[in-house]
Amino acid sequence: MKSILKIADLAEMRAFAANVARRLQGRGAIIALDGDLGSGKTTFTQALAAALGVRRPVTSPTFTLVCEYPLPDGRRLVHMDLYRLGGASDLDALGFHEYLDSGDVVCIEWPDRAGDEIPPDAWRLHFAIGAGSEERTITAEAPIDFLCQ
Ligand SMILES: Nc1ncnc2c1ncn2[C@@H]1O[C@H](COP(=O)(O)OP(=O)(O)O)[C@@H](O)[C@H]1O
Ligand SMILES: [Mg+2]
Repeated sequence: MKSILKIADLAEMRAFAANVARRLQGRGAIIALDGDLGSGKTTFTQALAAALGVRRPVTSPTFTLVCEYPLPDGRRLVHMDLYRLGGASDLDALGFHEYLDSGDVVCIEWPDRAGDEIPPDAWRLHFAIGAGSEERTITAEAPIDFLCQ
């Protein structure tokens, strides 16, 4: 089952990210973020980071592919952008599987670049640009429908 969440503007995107952060209290998750360039994947991750207590600026790991941010509770937010991933060997160089097993909060932009390597229990959010300049939709796949309630 899919649920579609309409986001009117940046403030609503931040509110959604804060809601997700609350659902992440004391637990890790793999969050796969897909959707077109400019649909808000990085903006969502920045807002999630802020809501989780990251103080330093979160920038898109376009060339480094991964960036880590310590959280106040000792966990980490791991932000990946796999757009420029060359292939499976790059995943190994990145320590991809170790991150997946870490119990941290792992946000992955362009998850399709990792092929079948995204675990089935990952939370999948699909971002799309809406009609107005700040309008977005987020389609949530099971098992994370609860994020939209
Ligand atoms: N409601 C919104 N949610 C997210 N981003 C928005 C929204 N409205 C406008 N924007 C803008 O759209 C752009 C989204 O870019 P970005 O988050 O880098 O997208 P992506 O990572 O998906 O390529 C940013 O410039 C952001 O300020
Ligand atoms: Mg991005």
